[in-house]
Amino acid sequence: MSKLVARVFSGSPVNLSRLAKVLRSGGIVAAPTETVYGLAGNALDPKACRKIFRAKLRPATDPLIVHVLGLDDLDRYAYGNSSARLLARKFWPGPLTIVLRKRTMIPSVVSAGRNSVALRSPAHPLFRRLLRLSGVPLAAPSANPFGYVSPTTAEHVRSGLGLRIQHILNGGSCAIGLESTIVDLRDAKRPRILRPGAITRSQIEQVLKVPVRERRSAGRYAQAQVAPGMLTRHYSPRTSVILHAVLDKSSVLSGAQNQAWVFLAKPSRVSGKNIYWMDRQGDLERVARGLFAMLRRLDVAGYARLNFECAPGKEGMAAAINDRLRRAAAKA
Ligand code: TXA
Ligand code: MG
Repeated sequence: MSKLVARVFSGSPVNLSRLAKVLRSGGIVAAPTETVYGLAGNALDPKACRKIFRAKLRPATDPLIVHVLGLDDLDRYAYGNSSARLLARKFWPGPLTIVLRKRTMIPSVVSAGRNSVALRSPAHPLFRRLLRLSGVPLAAPSANPFGYVSPTTAEHVRSGLGLRIQHILNGGSCAIGLESTIVDLRDAKRPRILRPGAITRSQIEQVLKVPVRERRSAGRYAQAQVAPGMLTRHYSPRTSVILHAVLDKSSVLSGAQNQAWVFLAKPSRVSGKNIYWMDRQGDLERVARGLFAMLRRLDVAGYARLNFECAPGKEGMAAAINDRLRRAAAKA
């Protein structure tokens, strides 16, 4: 078996046209979006899509998100409806993925055999250039080995998939840092959030003017039919993660040695080599941006256990952050 070693490309015009050519000819390329890095391939080419599944060791039951340039593509690849168009008009390009009934040109390998497709128009300028230059919709799951923490830098991609893919486009750190909000709009009147993200439930409700249901706790593999691929244990580091509603000095003092303590904001009365904070002020957008990098960094720091403080509340960005923390902490 030949060993592939990934090359990291800057976003120069020459590199972009080269990578677009790779995509057009059925290859796969890891590329930045505003949420996380994706592993992209031509969504209309089943062979290219199979390469994505193989590189990630992703089970064929877990469907891929299809990235498109904009609103016009909604009815090209799916059967749109008025709710979907309203949301796309408001939030695209951006971190919102819309699930709709698929048209037949979307191969079943992309949708993992179901009759729906998840569409998103990403905002990252480099990813959009690849979409334009390649001229095809790009299927792209997060560019990490299946089950591990999503990558928010090119280096994260290289460390996880560097031996399994050849092309990584470097766009620096992702601005949002958590995967897109996924909303199921197959039934226009009964929208349902399948995965919380930076576009919040209340933002969606304001546009649609109907209540939006949210999928409660993440399903186990056996329930994968409900929302494919949303295993409880996902985004998981190898080190065990323990969640705390709040952290304070006494939690740290009561804990055993060799544990990391991750506060949301810089704590005033605790210090030490094993004390971390997500953001000096605990600003939730900045917490989201740095969460996956923190999980990765602490995962290789040799701690026996990682203690994380949850974000306060159940709405907005807190919902998205706590969802990822719960997945990181899930045992199975
Ligand atoms: O922000 C994001 O969404 C990133 C970037 C790269 O765009 N992508 C991403 O993809 O997070 P991935 O593969 O890690 O997550 C895709 C998830 C699947 O696990 C599944 O839960 C959901 O999207 N999905 C895809 N197609 C679906 C469908 N037809 N019906 C329901 N859920 C679907
Ligand atoms: Mg993923």
